[in-house]
Parts: sequence; structure tokens; C-alpha cells
Amino acid sequence: MDDNDPGSRIALALDVPDLEAAKKLIEETREHVGTFKVGLELYTAVGPAAVEAVHAAGAKCFLDLKLHDIPATMGRSVAQAASMGVAYLTVHAVAGPSSLRQASDNAGSTRLLGVTVLTSLDAAELEAIGLSGGPRNAVDRLARLAWDAGLRGFVTSAHECAALRAALGEEAFLVTPGIRPAGSDVGDQKRVMTPADAIGAGADLLVVGRPIRDASDPAEAAANIARQVQLALAQ
Ligand code: C5P
Repeated sequence: MDDNDPGSRIALALDVPDLEAAKKLIEETREHVGTFKVGLELYTAVGPAAVEAVHAAGAKCFLDLKLHDIPATMGRSVAQAASMGVAYLTVHAVAGPSSLRQASDNAGSTRLLGVTVLTSLDAAELEAIGLSGGPRNAVDRLARLAWDAGLRGFVTSAHECAALRAALGEEAFLVTPGIRPAGSDVGDQKRVMTPADAIGAGADLLVVGRPIRDASDPAEAAANIARQVQLALAQ
């Protein structure tokens, strides 16, 4: 799939418990999806086999492990992920400047994506863990810190995409979860956006999970989202 294909802007979250379910979802949607996201659930269950299944389908792998550890461990873990050839790997920006620097120095051709503030944390919870000043302030500060440590990719709510783009410029690669086609079930996501609006807000890669995974016809759901992305890109 080349970079002009709308599917190259879609990452399908393989939020499933085993390899069989992951392979089925990959097979059903592969034609419309360029990247598959392996998260903590699947990686804990089956490990590198999940990454291999994505690569065997000729797709890119987004390894969403949200690493957060001391610099030496970060560097070595990132090097292991890079040696598997994953296209994207997430790290927590709160791991701090030294850990993030070690991570970026060991990433090779894997693009690191910094997670600033989990979207599940509200101001009260941030205060409880010692991050005062509210989420907006924390996102800005952590994104800047990660940028200074060499990261150029970020996971962000589509609602913060335009502000982050304005702050960081064109070089930033912005990945947005919480995508919902108009009329679909929001689930536990609080701040959602349609695929077209997220592209319009400057998102480079859209993470989509349940709207495809839980559809009665996942291939059709993925094709629909790809069509919406294509229309938005044409505008
Ligand atoms: O099912 P849904 O489309 O909400 O899936 C979103 C995916 O993105 C899940 O794998 C979830 O873990 C991930 N994610 C998120 N919000 C973030 C970061 C990651 O929903 N802030």
C-alpha cells in the first residue's frame, strides 16, 4: 500500500485476546488498512508472534507498549522493538528526558510516538499524581520535553491536533485515537472525532478500533472509513 492510499492513514487496533482473532481481523481488513496496532493485551498474550502476523500480511506494525522505565531499560527495549522492524512504538513522555533520549537514540528506523497525558486522566487525577495546571498545560509541557529529547511523533486526541501542529510544526507526526464515523457507537471514548474531521485537523494517522472490530462486516466498515479519509484528503 503506497502513501497516497487512504488506508495508509488508518491503523486498526488489534484489541483481541489471541492470535487467531488477530489474524482473522487482519485478513478481513487488509485491503483497506495499512497499519495494525498491537497493544498490551495481544502482546502480553502472544508476544512477537503478533508482530510477525502483521508483517506476514505485508502491513506495518504499530507496537503500542507505552514504555516507561529507566534510561538503560528504555534504550534496550526500544532496540529490541526496532530489530523486529515495527514501524511505530509508543513511549510515555513522563519517563523523562534521559529515558526519552535513550529511546530515540536506539529507535533506528522505528518511529517513536510519545504519549503525553492519557486521555482517561482528568484534572483531578492529574493533580493526584502531581501534575498540576490541568491537562492542556501538561500535554504542552510533555510534548515539548519529548520533542527536545528527539521525538517527532505524538499520540494526541484529535481535538488537540491543531494546537499541537501549530506548536510543533509540519515535522511533527500526529496520531489520533478516538475516531468514530458519524452515527457510530462512542463506547468509553469521551472526545471523539469523525475520520474526515481528524484528517482536516491535521492528523497523519488515525487509530480505529471498535468501529471496525465490532462491525458486523469489518471489511465494509474499514472500506467506509477509507472512503471518508480519501474524500477528506482530496479537499
Ligand atoms: O476502539 P477504539 O477505536 O476506541 O480504540 C482505540 C484504540 O486506541 C485502543 O487500542 C486504545 O487503547 C487506544 N488509545 C486510546 N486513547 C489514547 C491512546 C490509545 O483510545 N489516548
